Amino acid sequence: MYVWPCAVVLAQYLWCHRSSLPGKAVLEIGAGVSLPGVTAAKCGAEVTLSDSSELPHCLEICRQSCEMNHLPQVRIVGLTWGHVCQDLLALPPQDIILASDVFFEPEDFEDILTTVYFLMQKNPKVQLWSTYQVRSADWSLEALLYKWGMKCVHIPLESFDADKEDIAESALPGRHTVEMLVISFAKKDSL
Ligand SMILES: C[S@@+](CC[C@H](N)C(=O)[O-])C[C@H]1O[C@@H](n2cnc3c(N)ncnc32)[C@H](O)[C@@H]1O
Repeated sequence: MYVWPCAVVLAQYLWCHRSSLPGKAVLEIGAGVSLPGVTAAKCGAEVTLSDSSELPHCLEICRQSCEMNHLPQVRIVGLTWGHVCQDLLALPPQDIILASDVFFEPEDFEDILTTVYFLMQKNPKVQLWSTYQVRSADWSLEALLYKWGMKCVHIPLESFDADKEDIAESALPGRHTVEMLVISFAKKDSL
């Protein structure tokens, strides 16, 4: 399995915010190789990794990433976007949701936001830290976020030293255009 360019950029964002991570409940969705989640766990966050419950090989990759990085405390659960399953119901309130390169198929966007919305009900202050690769100028997340009562802030890559073709010795970001977003509940009384 592949570490996507977005994962390197999100891991860099986590590293820049590492002082705020110890003790935080952090869930990674669509984790795959789980570089951001592993980085958060190494920085002291209480991390849960997830990938689709219908893709057991992806969950096995999450497990292997934890094993290789000596992180036996990290939980791994099957969460398919848009499905309310027992593992989602049982999750404690989260502080941060990580999502690296999950916004790639527009037909999945609403399912992803359904899962995020469910977690926002448990903790209205939860933030979704997400990177996405600009592959098409045709889609926009903003209208969907508005529909779900969410807002997003674009974080300039230069503000966390990620505006280069290589980051932390990884050449993966290369010439790909990656954007960093922080998404949260738009309700005034949740702030
Ligand atoms: C482009 S990969 C990104 C992997 C990793 N986050 C990264 O950036 O390296 C998309 C990930 O989303 C997961 N995924 C795809 N469809 C999913 C779904 N319906 N529910 C949950 N995860 C899904 C895939 O298994 C894969 O791990």
